[in-house]
Amino acid sequence: MDGKKPGTSRIAVLTSGGDAPGMNTTIRAIYRAAEECGIEVIGIRKGFSGLIKGEIFLMTRRDVANIIHTGGTILGTSRNEEFKTKEGRKIAAENLKNAKADALIIIGGEGSLIGANHFNEETGIPTIGIPGSIDNDIPGTDFSIGFDTAINTALESIDKIRDTALSHGRLFFVEVMGRTSDMIAIESGIAGGAEFLILPGNEKYIDELCDMLVPAFKAGKKYALVIVAEGENPGWSFQIAKDVSSRISMESRVCILGHTQRGGSPTARDRVLASKLGVSAVNAYTKGFAGVMVGEVKRSIKLTPLCEIMKSVKKPEKNIVRLSQILIH
Ligand code: F6P
Repeated sequence: MDGKKPGTSRIAVLTSGGDAPGMNTTIRAIYRAAEECGIEVIGIRKGFSGLIKGEIFLMTRRDVANIIHTGGTILGTSRNEEFKTKEGRKIAAENLKNAKADALIIIGGEGSLIGANHFNEETGIPTIGIPGSIDNDIPGTDFSIGFDTAINTALESIDKIRDTALSHGRLFFVEVMGRTSDMIAIESGIAGGAEFLILPGNEKYIDELCDMLVPAFKAGKKYALVIVAEGENPGWSFQIAKDVSSRISMESRVCILGHTQRGGSPTARDRVLASKLGVSAVNAYTKGFAGVMVGEVKRSIKLTPLCEIMKSVKKPEKNIVRLSQILIH
């Protein structure tokens, strides 16, 4: 690591948890906003794992060139167990202090932001969070970075599956991501014109789906698309398809979209959101804020204490749920 220029401050940045399209755009925005204020930026490789191992480097403007449109994260990411312990966070803090970092910006999902809160409280190193996750399940922001791209990726596949489903007159189950969140399923289901939505927790889905399908096909329906939220059991669509097919004697196919939803070039919406939140995180630091997440609510930047993130669970808005009930059946 290079020595710090006298009189300057230095912020560290890492990406953590599941990658999300727009993370690179966020890193770029952070670097450029910091540069404008004369702040140095150090990058941490592989999320909390790299922080604990001391994989830290001084970033230059070249590092953030030509990344605004790229998927994944140039810094790498990880899901790390050690950072969940006090000991792990202590090692991480020592590495940051040795690198002369004055603050840490963490881009990640709910779990990463909970880790950010512990780190901020225990180490005294000002920590700022940015919501980056395709799941859109983080309180304190209308959208998390990556969600818009993920639903558009899912939608592209749904539209393609519709072509083949229609050609063969088949029933299709399309499984989308979101272990603890139904957001991708609901919004891609609405946008994709799905016939039915299966969300974890609805025990009666087989009865409801069969009651809808049988008369619809009798009345001339040619095919059907069912969107399934993966929930805690990715791949459960295969069993669902088997059960439904045998019950109504209809051939079906399954398509699991999986990690395709995590990659790809971020949409314009995600790039703008990522740019806003990256710059706002640097602003929050220069204004002396610590232990906060920067989000966007009703098109305004909002700072939420990191300690609030774990206290509430973000559920899909009532309006969007109602919309899905009106349009998907
Ligand atoms: O990042 C969120 C998420 O994509 C969930 O929607 C998904 O269930 C999970 O991560 C998959 O995680 P992993 O990449 O570790 O399999």
